[in-house]
Amino acid sequence: MNTYRVGVLGGDGIGPEVTAEAVKVLQAAAARFGFGLELVDYPFGAEHALKTNELIPDRAFEEMKTLDAILLGAVGDPRFEPGHLEFGIVGRLRFGLDLYVNLRPIKLYAEHLCPLKGRRPEDLQMVVVRENTEDAYRGQTRIDHKGTPEETAVQEMFYTRRGTERIIRYAFELARSRPRKTLTLVDKANAVRAHDLYRRVFADVAKEYPGVTTDAIYVDACCMWMIKNPDRFDTVVTTNMFGDIITDLGAVLQGGLGIAAGGNIHPGRVSVFEPIHGSAPKYRGQKKSNPLAAILAGAMLLEHVGEPAAARAVEDSVAGLLRSRRIPSIGTDSGIPTPAVGDAVVAELAR
Ligand code: IPM
Ligand code: MG
Repeated sequence: MNTYRVGVLGGDGIGPEVTAEAVKVLQAAAARFGFGLELVDYPFGAEHALKTNELIPDRAFEEMKTLDAILLGAVGDPRFEPGHLEFGIVGRLRFGLDLYVNLRPIKLYAEHLCPLKGRRPEDLQMVVVRENTEDAYRGQTRIDHKGTPEETAVQEMFYTRRGTERIIRYAFELARSRPRKTLTLVDKANAVRAHDLYRRVFADVAKEYPGVTTDAIYVDACCMWMIKNPDRFDTVVTTNMFGDIITDLGAVLQGGLGIAAGGNIHPGRVSVFEPIHGSAPKYRGQKKSNPLAAILAGAMLLEHVGEPAAARAVEDSVAGLLRSRRIPSIGTDSGIPTPAVGDAVVAELAR
């Protein structure tokens, strides 16, 4: 029997409560599909940082490198400056583990969840391949003459050919493996002149994938098309920051942040799976947040470690519950407590 060592970092706000449901579902999947799970819990996040002043201690970080995967809840707390926990924890994992792919499927599981009129599940089946280690997240920040009328603030957007090429190559491989074999590059090469690098590398790599149909569009147009014609998209590859933005838009098209999951991936290495929503501190402990995004992140984790049948079963269970409206909505207003959603997925998985 294969046993996977999985780190669990619930984090802040609603992170721990949604992660607990994802773990419950992973355990049910392990029992049903015959694999083992060894869970390693990590207490990191705002409370831990306030008590100990540490974000992720080096010892724990070294241990994380030896795991098969990590399930992350959410990080962020109003008692810290914006970015402090995010960069110290999420950033440390993404950059420190070189998780260069942020894979974010945007799938409509049930028609009634989509805010767009008349859109059906087959109209929204895209997947965003977001670069995850460069861009404004890695460039220098410079603020001069702070607080004076002459103040200037500069933020670099930083890209390397290596970083650009590996994400584009990953996206081509993924696009080729999907039925529509279509890949769209999303950038802003008309204003961010550095995106010329993305355009050139995309065109070069495309030559190696003659079976994949490609196009390149600007991010503003992408936002428009995602609303107007979401069915025009299959696989999308984009820069770190644009990927951040368009996947929140995508989440809303799926029905809300309560259902959108993502993976921070380095193929073949320990990778981190998380709901793309934040820590929502005001809902903490109220047990009304929907854990489906965390549960679907768990499904992506199963796929990554090599349990695709289990991954599919979890995803199908979630889809079935949504389609039949046994889970009627995915907001905090669904009326179903967080643990009951986890229980419903477990029951569905057992059928
Ligand atoms: C995300 C989040 C993060 C990001 C924040 C928490 C830094 O919005 O994962 O989408 O910008 O990448
Ligand atoms: Mg985001």
